[in-house]
Amino acid sequence: MASQKKQAHLLGFIQHGVNSHATGMWRHPKDKVNWDWSRPPYWQHMARTMERGLFDAMFIADELAPYNNYEKSSDACVKYAVQCPTHEPSTLVPIITTATKHLGVGVTLSTAFEHPYSMVRRLSSLDHLSDGRIAWNIVSSYSKSEWDAYGAEMSDRGHRYERMEEYMELCYQLWDSWAPDAIIADKDSGIFADPAKVKEINFEGEFFRSKGRSFCYRSPQGRPVLWQAGSSDRGRDFAAKHAEAIFAVHPNVDRMRQYSDDLNQRLVKTFNRPPGSVKLIYGLQCIVGESRAHAQEKYEQIRANIPLEGALAWISGHFGPDFSTYDLDEYVQNIEIPGIQGLFESIIYAKGGDPITVKEAALYYAMGMGMPITVGTASDIADTLEYYMDEGGADGFMLVATYTPGCFEEFVDLVVPELQRRGRYRTTYPGTTLRENLLAD
Ligand SMILES: Cc1cc2nc3c(=O)[nH]c(=O)nc-3n(C[C@H](O)[C@H](O)[C@H](O)COP(=O)(O)O)c2cc1C
Repeated sequence: MASQKKQAHLLGFIQHGVNSHATGMWRHPKDKVNWDWSRPPYWQHMARTMERGLFDAMFIADELAPYNNYEKSSDACVKYAVQCPTHEPSTLVPIITTATKHLGVGVTLSTAFEHPYSMVRRLSSLDHLSDGRIAWNIVSSYSKSEWDAYGAEMSDRGHRYERMEEYMELCYQLWDSWAPDAIIADKDSGIFADPAKVKEINFEGEFFRSKGRSFCYRSPQGRPVLWQAGSSDRGRDFAAKHAEAIFAVHPNVDRMRQYSDDLNQRLVKTFNRPPGSVKLIYGLQCIVGESRAHAQEKYEQIRANIPLEGALAWISGHFGPDFSTYDLDEYVQNIEIPGIQGLFESIIYAKGGDPITVKEAALYYAMGMGMPITVGTASDIADTLEYYMDEGGADGFMLVATYTPGCFEEFVDLVVPELQRRGRYRTTYPGTTLRENLLAD
């Protein structure tokens, strides 16, 4: 019976910039027509569109500086708008949440250069101002360009995860600093809050120290929904320990299933959490048309916008090596990468495990960050979503933009009703906060 089947969660994946995750998208004739991405109306319209489609959230990716490792320069990123320019993501939150009532916002904020004290203060303030609709995508800055921009020496993955563990420990203490009933606000006695219920933190760690009380009282969700996208062995452990939702990219259903099984095993065996207690949200690129031929035509048009040099600069930025020094026909399989392991695997398995050349990898990745691409009618796309949920263990999908806001309008108008007709998607928001909506079945 349709009603017993898992229902999809949907999020719109974007960046506070011109290009998001489809390299060359700004060139598309339908991209941002009459919209200025650096001004509020564009974001308000996109937020209202996603809310019309009952999405859990708009999810804003981020990095802190243009990549600079392709030809040892950020020239190609600037030239082809490879995730550049990108503006600060949390500034969008009040704009999005005042234009909507239910839509959440996932905001990517790096732990690398911000002290946990101010991170907690910022996120709690945003959780208050949005009535509890914030998620935090916890990242630690994987790109050397970010460290260069901040004038710091880049640390390795292991060190970053160790530091992030301690970071979270302090964040939890700060979030829990104010008891839910700490505020009395008794005008007669003049007592606003009970100091006994506002814990003073005295944290002495290897990486951080903090002495004092959190400056924000408890926010509607207590803490933002914790989100993670680390995919290395260490990253998966971090996610299984801390995350309430995970964003992962896998190019096919077998890899999705392996990841889902692995994550659920870690939850149960290592962290004593129930299986299925972390929502697995998989990246997906959908190109919907009135007919299959129409959708295919749209796919070709999107692909034609990708500049090869921009694509190479992007994989250099995400994975670390300077791909200008590799032959375009060389296979990527055996290259050791310091960057985003999980996303690198998406291209390694893009051809089902068959060798893939540097050129193929770059062009595939530049379409939509290595996400599987589904091209077809609304019914074809709904079939794919059902398949990934039933066979791949997906709880929902991070929909990567192709051109904006049009791709989200089309998805909401065409695919959402089809999913609802099949009983595979909500017809109303089940809760008030993002956590209530996202963690609902
Ligand atoms: C699907 C996906 C999306 C990610 N998005 C971001 C991002 O927006 N900003 C960022 O700094 N890191 C991002 N990352 C990087 C990870 O959060 C993580 O810090 C990095 O991959 C290093 O950890 P790993 O080697 O365990 O994957 C993303 C990773 C994945 C797999």
